[in-house]
Amino acid sequence: MRAIRAAIVGVGHFLPRRVVPNSEFESFLDTSDHWIKTRTGIESRRFAADDETTADLGSKAAINALSDSGIEPGDIDLIVMATSTPDNTFPATATKVQSEIGMKSGYAFDVQAVCAGFIYALVNANALIRSGEAKRALVVGSETFSRILDMSDRRTCVLFGDGAGAVVLEATETEGGPADRGILSTDIHSDGRYRDLLYVDGGVSTTRTAGYLRMDGKEVFRHAVKKLNATAQAAIDKAKIRAGSIDWIVPHQANYRIISATAKKLGIPEDQVILTIQRHGNTSAASIPLALSEAKSNGKIKAGDVLLLMAIGGGLSWGSVVIRW
Ligand code: UT7
Repeated sequence: MRAIRAAIVGVGHFLPRRVVPNSEFESFLDTSDHWIKTRTGIESRRFAADDETTADLGSKAAINALSDSGIEPGDIDLIVMATSTPDNTFPATATKVQSEIGMKSGYAFDVQAVCAGFIYALVNANALIRSGEAKRALVVGSETFSRILDMSDRRTCVLFGDGAGAVVLEATETEGGPADRGILSTDIHSDGRYRDLLYVDGGVSTTRTAGYLRMDGKEVFRHAVKKLNATAQAAIDKAKIRAGSIDWIVPHQANYRIISATAKKLGIPEDQVILTIQRHGNTSAASIPLALSEAKSNGKIKAGDVLLLMAIGGGLSWGSVVIRW
């Protein structure tokens, strides 16, 4: 049965200039390059300049994605932006991106699912495209996590970085089967009983401050390996494909050990996993589109490839998307 699907027709990213190597943390914390590298896979990350905001990074990534697609800002009718580090409490950071890229019509809004944000944003944009509420959408993941890091907490501040990535989705008429181009399946979950495992200890309605990131890393790790495997399997089943048909896993980049354990459980070799954690650290909602953009530009991802995207983060919130490029 013929179906409308959302196909990725452009991808782009933007990273702030300042590279922060692990050694920088050694100067003021009881930590080491060796600990960070072996426990997480991270070697360096980028931090935004003081005057560089989430919207600035997101707009530059969006412009790069538009240029990759050949589509003009005026032909986009939707922006869904995933971020947990908005420029302001309101309006949506997506509306700032909308004006910065010169898009004068359509609609733009933010979604907040922390590190699973890009997956949630894709699910929203996909649903709006399939229902006919949008024809061409920009889905942006952008973060300035450096602004919510407690630089005296070695358990968290070494893990995160800043950056942005974006994709352009376009409504495409397809056969309605697993050989189609575009988003083939989605699977998302949250469980608020675990919200204290990874949270920010401030907020408008509580402390009236922005607050700092807090995490029980060990517990999140334990949930991550289990829940990512389950959601990946669910998305594979919904797409009516086999795990063996997946060309690339493009995971949220939180910890190399989590990524490697998940790929192993799915029976997918590590050379089919896109890894950027070494140079980006954990950029929360930006990590998947950043990885997609790098993998496209270095020639790894090609037309027709099947991709499995997956992420877990605060909430807990998690999910997966299967896409044929
Ligand atoms: O993106 C959202 C989802 N987030 C995640 O998926 C993160 C999941 N969790 C993790 O990636 C890992 O749990 C961490 C990388 C955060 C921590 O690794 P771990 O192997 O679970 O270490 P741990 O928390 O069990 O800590 C082991 C030891 C502790 O020392 P003691 O108590 O054994 O003496 C920590 O105090 O390592 C110590 N430690 C550090 N040492 C040097 C913790 N952070 C550091 C550090 N440098 N930066």
